[in-house]
Amino acid sequence: MLTAYDFPMAKLVDAAGIDAILVGDSLGNVVLGYGSTIPVTMDDMVHHVKAVARGVARAMVVGDMPFLSYHLSREESVRNAGRLLQEGGAQAVKLEGGAEVAGAIQAMVNAGIPVMGHLGLTPQSVHQMGGYKVQGKDEATARKMIDDALAIQEAGVFSMVLEGVPTPLAKLITEKLDVPTIGIGAGPHCNGQVLVTHDMLGLYGGVSPKFAKRYVQLSDQIMEALKGYKDEVENLTFPGPEHGFGMSEEVLDKLY
Ligand code: KIV
Repeated sequence: MLTAYDFPMAKLVDAAGIDAILVGDSLGNVVLGYGSTIPVTMDDMVHHVKAVARGVARAMVVGDMPFLSYHLSREESVRNAGRLLQEGGAQAVKLEGGAEVAGAIQAMVNAGIPVMGHLGLTPQSVHQMGGYKVQGKDEATARKMIDDALAIQEAGVFSMVLEGVPTPLAKLITEKLDVPTIGIGAGPHCNGQVLVTHDMLGLYGGVSPKFAKRYVQLSDQIMEALKGYKDEVENLTFPGPEHGFGMSEEVLDKLY
């Protein structure tokens, strides 16, 4: 799985043969310029899920449920999740949390909405976690994560993201579950992997986590192109004759 937030990137990720495209609320960090995912709204998500869905012919589109969109009541949670499918065109939703969101998951699944879970480093709880830190390093928190994984599996998730989880714990959770795990900073033993596309393509200028392997630094190539354009406009080498349109001399003569 990889993330996408707009039509052109969704087309590329889909064409690359990636199985699932997550319209993550990382949108807030890498596209909307917020310092966290917390300001992202349902309307933001619907807008971007729509754009992604229009670019996808093959992959499963998963829309992320933003902060507080699945906490206030079952009814509101189902209605919000439903918007990502009905208005956005997603095939599934993702939400963060363990046993405390099992009721919301169950209600969505009962309404026919496929739900992906997300445990470990859950960015919507950044203030509660005291920062973006690996989770489940001691016995109590590791046990709680195992219990949470089983609870949300029981509630009906079809899969779950494990983010920022020690490799051996992610392995153990993966072995205990019947549904597949998708890791990000959780080692190689998960059933699948996910990355934030802007991180792996080097498009995001902010701080990226250690686990976000950079496959290319596209920001350098973009900067070179932008400066090249500026230079060519300033020294009058762009546009050249091949970028313009002619007209007949006869018509032109009549205009003088
Ligand atoms: O919002 C997001 O992009 C995510 C991934 C990091 C899993 O939740």
